[in-house]
Amino acid sequence: MKKVKVNLGRDSYEVRIGAGALARTGNWLKEIGLTGRLVVITNPVVDGLYGEALREGLAGEGFEVTVVLVPDGEEHKSLETAGRLYYELTDLYAERHTPVLALGGGVIGDLAGFVAATYSRGVPLVHVPTTLLAQVDSSIGGKVAVDHGRLKNKVGVFYQPRLVITDIGTLSTLDAGQFANGLAEAVKSAVIWDGDFFSLMEDNLEGIKSLEDGILEEVVFRSARIKAGVVEKDEKDLGLRSILNFGHTVGHALETVSAFAVCHGEAVAMGMMAAARISNRMGILDKGELDRLGSLLERAGLPTGLPALPAGELIGAMKHDKKVFAGQVRFVLPRSIGEVFITDEVSLSLVEDVLGGR
Ligand SMILES: NC(=O)c1ccc[n+]([C@@H]2O[C@H](COP(=O)([O-])OP(=O)(O)OC[C@H]3O[C@@H](n4cnc5c(N)ncnc54)[C@H](O)[C@@H]3O)[C@@H](O)[C@H]2O)c1
Ligand SMILES: [Zn+2]
Repeated sequence: MKKVKVNLGRDSYEVRIGAGALARTGNWLKEIGLTGRLVVITNPVVDGLYGEALREGLAGEGFEVTVVLVPDGEEHKSLETAGRLYYELTDLYAERHTPVLALGGGVIGDLAGFVAATYSRGVPLVHVPTTLLAQVDSSIGGKVAVDHGRLKNKVGVFYQPRLVITDIGTLSTLDAGQFANGLAEAVKSAVIWDGDFFSLMEDNLEGIKSLEDGILEEVVFRSARIKAGVVEKDEKDLGLRSILNFGHTVGHALETVSAFAVCHGEAVAMGMMAAARISNRMGILDKGELDRLGSLLERAGLPTGLPALPAGELIGAMKHDKKVFAGQVRFVLPRSIGEVFITDEVSLSLVEDVLGGR
């Protein structure tokens, strides 16, 4: 079992990582002073797989658990669903301090987190992430939100959980695509912050993909530690935290222009490669480092080229994104593997060349 502390003064919390963590949830909640009733928000898929293990662990410690189900899918990460959940919470209990446990991937984490943050001006929140993406990325850092219309994460707040319980055993039921999605974010963490972690993944990728406990735990732990470290320095996303968007400038544009036919991890992988190529063309990132990134992503089962989408449309999408400041597209570019920088000075013609495969 490994622990990462997220140091945010009075809002500090721990991420506890290991196989079998679900069964220890009741114990750990008591340790942080939570007892009595609680509400688990999850979806039918995750409930079917892990609901019982979680409920048993909680009942054994005397918790009175109510499970509230939300249909599976990003389209339910909405104000409508949040509104329904407020009604359910009102029917279930009147007490203000009843905790909410978010059991699931990033969709459940963002939605249940948003509901916990806003119901009665905030009830205690515990994340129990069950996808690799949620374990290495979305459960840490306190961003919670719902989508609004076609705009992703448009309505949200910062709301830190009281605890994150990360059971790497749950990753065994993810399909290959969902696993690769999370790996893309783990690679991102390594490139922005920790060259040694990148080498560790290069040396152990087969073990990671075949879910060997020790190395998988290490990957989740290292990614969580990086995310925690960045969030501690810039909780409210005023500067440094934007390095977590490495690969996402082009990535989000690929998702938008392809009408989400390209999934998030694939888009981020291609976006990281585009950023790395831009940096290489600017004479900053070595060709050797660019190739290392490409080869790790390929081994992870992620794409490194770009789909045949018009460069002009991609740039248009980036301009509509929030990553545009005074007409310039803001990029996070790698200086080397393990270090990135933020710049507004990338010429649009270079971006067009790279996106157009020239
Ligand atoms: N808050 C943040 O900082 C942050 C960061 C990154 C992404 N996000 C958000 O996260 C969401 C994406 O999260 P995601 O990739 O986890 O998607 P997801 O939550 O939709 O989960 C993917 C699929 O896997 C299923 N699933 C979950 N756990 C499983 C398991 N252990 N075994 C089998 N199936 C399982 C889910 O039911 C779903 O069908 C997006 O909405 C995105 O905006 C938030
Ligand atoms: Zn992402």
